[in-house]
Amino acid sequence: MRHLIDPLDFSVDEVTTLLDLAADIEQNPTKYQDACAHKKLATLFYEPSTRTRLSFESAMLGLGGSVLGFASADSSSVSKGESVADTIRVVSCYADICAMRHPKEGAPLRASRFSKIPVINAGDGGHQHPTQTLTDLMTIRKRTGRLSGLTVGLCGDLKFGRTVHSLIKSLSRYENIRFVLISPDELQVPGYIINEVLKPSGLAYSEVSSLENAMPELDILYMTRVQQERFFNEADYIRLKDSYILTEDKMKLAKADMAVLHPLPRVNEIALKVDDDPRAAYFEQVQNGVYVRQALILTLLGLTGGNDHA
Ligand code: CP
Repeated sequence: MRHLIDPLDFSVDEVTTLLDLAADIEQNPTKYQDACAHKKLATLFYEPSTRTRLSFESAMLGLGGSVLGFASADSSSVSKGESVADTIRVVSCYADICAMRHPKEGAPLRASRFSKIPVINAGDGGHQHPTQTLTDLMTIRKRTGRLSGLTVGLCGDLKFGRTVHSLIKSLSRYENIRFVLISPDELQVPGYIINEVLKPSGLAYSEVSSLENAMPELDILYMTRVQQERFFNEADYIRLKDSYILTEDKMKLAKADMAVLHPLPRVNEIALKVDDDPRAAYFEQVQNGVYVRQALILTLLGLTGGNDHA
């Protein structure tokens, strides 16, 4: 039995196979419409979510399966003090696969150690968000045709943004990626990403504070929200929250085929007018999230074939 806890749990070849499957699901949805008949997905969300939880549920329903779960810790026996270990032992009796979001780093990993069903990390604290990364990779591959030879700018809250950490980890395995890390000093990527991921990869990276200066060289611009919920001090959040706002004027500095990604939710960091720019890929990214999660569910359940006669 396999889990997806960290973006590196799947090899580069396995990620390619999964993205190919996601692309096939996008092209041939009816082939997979009953692939998970009689299978159940549990969504255990101890932290708020719109996209991740609903896209998992949409994914499973689109595969002919069923969903159960909770959308907040308050509505489960966690509020009575039940541990993650006991919760997953119980949920293993009710479902075939589970997606877990938790505010504590490492909670899905702990759950996987007690689980009888595959556990998917749907975001753990400010740590990792591997299924968002699969979504990002699918979007980058569709937009550019490749996952190598790209200059990737990541902008905003690189300290607390778990999607950033997972995307850097994952892209660091591809060739000729150059990272431009754009943030205020207080929100730079954590030291472990620099020392354990970027430096060992041998890939070029720079830490800068100006979005405008970086724009002309980027193939991908990955904007992020400043993560209010991870701040200890409201004053710091207010001071930093509008550090970067992508506007139509700034888009004029970018390549004609640059793609703008954002894991969403957006607060103020992308002006609404940018939505009309063909380079804005963030709502396409949301749609891709359903296909990659379908591919992931099928892969972890060993059901990748679909129905060729549908
Ligand atoms: N991208 C993302 O994780 O969004 P949600 O928090 O709405 O799930």
